[in-house]
Amino acid sequence: MIANPHTKYQAFQSIKLKKRQWPNNTISAPPIWMSTDLRDGNQALIDPMSIQTKLKFFKALVAIGFKQIEVGFPSASEIDFNFVRLLIEDKHIPEDVTIEVLVQARFDLIEKTVESLRGAKQAILHMYNPVAPAFRQIVYKTDKAGVKKIATQGTQWVKQLTANAPEVNWTYQYSPEVFSSTEIRFAKEVCDAVVEVWQPSADNKIIINLPATVEMNTPNTYADQIEWMHTHLKQRQHIILSVHPHNDRGTAVAAAELALMAGADRVEGCLFGNGERTGNVDLVTLAMNLYTQGIHPELDFSNIDQTRKLVEECNQLPVHPRHPYAGELVFTAFSGSHQDAIKKGLAVQQQDGLWNVPYLPIDPADLGRNYDAVVRVNSQSGKGGVSFLLDRAAGLQLPRRLQIEFSRIVQTVNDKTGKESHANAIVELFEQEYFKQDTPVEFISSQFSTLTDGQQSIDIQFNYQSKKQKVSGIGNGPIDAAANALSQLVKQPVEVVDYHEHSIGSGSDVSAVCYIELKVGEHSASFGVAKDSNIMIAAVKALVGGVNRKVGAVSPS
Ligand code: KIV
Ligand code: ZN
Repeated sequence: MIANPHTKYQAFQSIKLKKRQWPNNTISAPPIWMSTDLRDGNQALIDPMSIQTKLKFFKALVAIGFKQIEVGFPSASEIDFNFVRLLIEDKHIPEDVTIEVLVQARFDLIEKTVESLRGAKQAILHMYNPVAPAFRQIVYKTDKAGVKKIATQGTQWVKQLTANAPEVNWTYQYSPEVFSSTEIRFAKEVCDAVVEVWQPSADNKIIINLPATVEMNTPNTYADQIEWMHTHLKQRQHIILSVHPHNDRGTAVAAAELALMAGADRVEGCLFGNGERTGNVDLVTLAMNLYTQGIHPELDFSNIDQTRKLVEECNQLPVHPRHPYAGELVFTAFSGSHQDAIKKGLAVQQQDGLWNVPYLPIDPADLGRNYDAVVRVNSQSGKGGVSFLLDRAAGLQLPRRLQIEFSRIVQTVNDKTGKESHANAIVELFEQEYFKQDTPVEFISSQFSTLTDGQQSIDIQFNYQSKKQKVSGIGNGPIDAAANALSQLVKQPVEVVDYHEHSIGSGSDVSAVCYIELKVGEHSASFGVAKDSNIMIAAVKALVGGVNRKVGAVSPS
């Protein structure tokens, strides 16, 4: 980088709007969507798509709900020409879908393009020519009058040649290429002249598409340009005003949204933002941004993973794991405090139906994602995440202090490995730490009886050093009796601090899970947990397990 970038780069000269309206507007309905995945997107691929791949992509776009799809550049590519023919001849285009093709303003190219579309029920013929100063001066070595003439002459040819194919219901689209860096009054002059030649009507509107071929500045400057065109173009009532933002500065989505607020009716872009250089505007993000504001975009991304995989396969390009709405990690929280908030948020949903979960702007289920990936546990995570996964994967609802105790155990493992712990590994660790605590005392069975004074007595049979043994105890209740029996066994007081239980499973498979927080002698309190079809046995096992965790070696009396 150079020390004084102003010696190399000039700031974009934005237009001055006296009574700017768009900041007060909101988007209340979806725009007309146009997918240019098969044209602008395809032109930007390392390996452009084959006909078969294009067909697969086309069908997916139709299934998502696109009604306008730019399918190629038939005068520039034989594959594209043949693809358009295939779509028409093999009747792949639904009645309510209009295909679109791109062409430059040259008679022979327009002729070939019209030929490619013969027999289609309806089609959009999209002609463009560059009009910006750098292109006039450097690329085409012509002046304003020269590029304006190319636009009007080209439009005249489109009019003449499409008239020879009256079986097609034609819509004409004109793009002053690099509109974003064109003098605004001149862009209007060219567009007005094109409209004048085409003579659109209320029944046959022209599409004037204003591309940010290269994104030039903050998105508000594009919105200003669109509002100015929206309010100054002649015959605005006969024009569908379209935008085509590229993403050079990373703000194409914002530019498109502000452009809609500024008066645009239609947006061209690609799924997941594929396209030249940094891409076209991402139609998935735009659509889902609308959805999260309560507006159905009329595009269906209910199975976002399937859509993402298909697009990755067709484009041979990966979608970033943090890509809005679609990336693998976008609904995942690793941080402990986020997990905690999400866990609490999910627990209180469904009361009024309105989505309000901290850190999740949208319900992953609406995109066909499940909650498994919402919480993932690594060394940054805490009790919320660990207990969320235990609940989802094994139905275990840990009391709060056990959440803290067990998450420290998970943390130690994660710190050691430096890696994430998956749900099944966490369940396994929990079972190892609590359910499989059978040394030194291995529980075999227990029997309770009620004494004449109302007290409970218990006999516990267990294995110790491969020998079957028995210990007995009396208490105010069964758990107190069991704790007293175990106190005798370990020759230290066993005191129950807290007790929780819940059922797990259903029907004949139902079991009870008992969580007992206990103190053994001077040791700090900790938990024993056990599962059994009999709730009393589960409690005794939990106590034995808890004692085993605290007392390495006992010598039973
Ligand atoms: O980015 C662009 O300017 C284009 C035009 C052909 C519309 O893709
Ligand atoms: Zn483009």
